[in-house]
Amino acid sequence: MTTTLIIGGSSGIGLATARLLVARGDEVHIAGRSAQRLDDARLALGDAGTDVATHVVDALDAAAVASLAAKRAPVGRLVLTLSGSEGAGRLAELDLAALRRAFDGKFWAHLTVLHAALPHLAENASITLLGAITARASMPGTAGLAAVNAAVEALVAPLAAELAPVRVNGVSPGYVDTPWWGMVPDADRRAFFDGVASELPTRRIATADDVAEVVALVATNPNLTGTVIEADGGARLKAA
Ligand SMILES: NC(=O)c1ccc[n+]([C@@H]2O[C@H](COP(=O)([O-])OP(=O)(O)OC[C@H]3O[C@@H](n4cnc5c(N)ncnc54)[C@H](OP(=O)(O)O)[C@@H]3O)[C@@H](O)[C@H]2O)c1
Repeated sequence: MTTTLIIGGSSGIGLATARLLVARGDEVHIAGRSAQRLDDARLALGDAGTDVATHVVDALDAAAVASLAAKRAPVGRLVLTLSGSEGAGRLAELDLAALRRAFDGKFWAHLTVLHAALPHLAENASITLLGAITARASMPGTAGLAAVNAAVEALVAPLAAELAPVRVNGVSPGYVDTPWWGMVPDADRRAFFDGVASELPTRRIATADDVAEVVALVATNPNLTGTVIEADGGARLKAA
């Protein structure tokens, strides 16, 4: 049985990925900072929740990540679905301190987990990172987010070459209806999503399940490495 560790697995895309990989027969461990969110996640998984182990771990805590990975070694699939929610805004108004926190909350959190978990990966393990289409789009107000996500996605190709036969891939979502958007009040979020969906080539906002299917694909397919799959509903095709 393959051991899968999903850091950021208590919500959104990570939680949906946990559901898919349990169904494939993996031994799935999900980690996040909030014990309450982990409990809620287990409930949300229903019957599958009994097969998922939960761990309170902050991705920025290298010792805690190393300890978890060592206990579950060899880790066959490492999936990182975590990020903070800061860093957006037009340059003139951009809060640079918030953008530094965004780098900490996503880029440095990713690098900390990768560094700490590396000695505990299986020889043929897969690593899957989540970027965002902002890395390659040109949406006003997203320069900071573009930089954070481009930094994460830039890890993929060199690490795929360096760590082979461990496979390293990324998934780059566009707009996904997950709790990540919780900072936007419900009515505003619905209006925003409706407006965005009407302009997307797919005419819809993605679900966590849509993206999780792509995460599960790159995490499990032995022929994929060094790729970043754009699972963005065509958002990259829009200029703004
Ligand atoms: N939703 C979108 O529209 C969208 C679009 C493009 C890209 N993405 C990317 O897709 C990934 C998943 O996003 P999502 O929408 O599924 O987000 P989400 O619903 O907010 O879930 C994020 C998960 O990460 C955990 N987390 C955050 N910081 C952590 C840390 N330092 N240590 C451990 N766990 C941490 C959270 O739990 P705790 O808070 O309890 O730690 C939660 O389980 C992220 O990289 C995000 O940037 C999302």
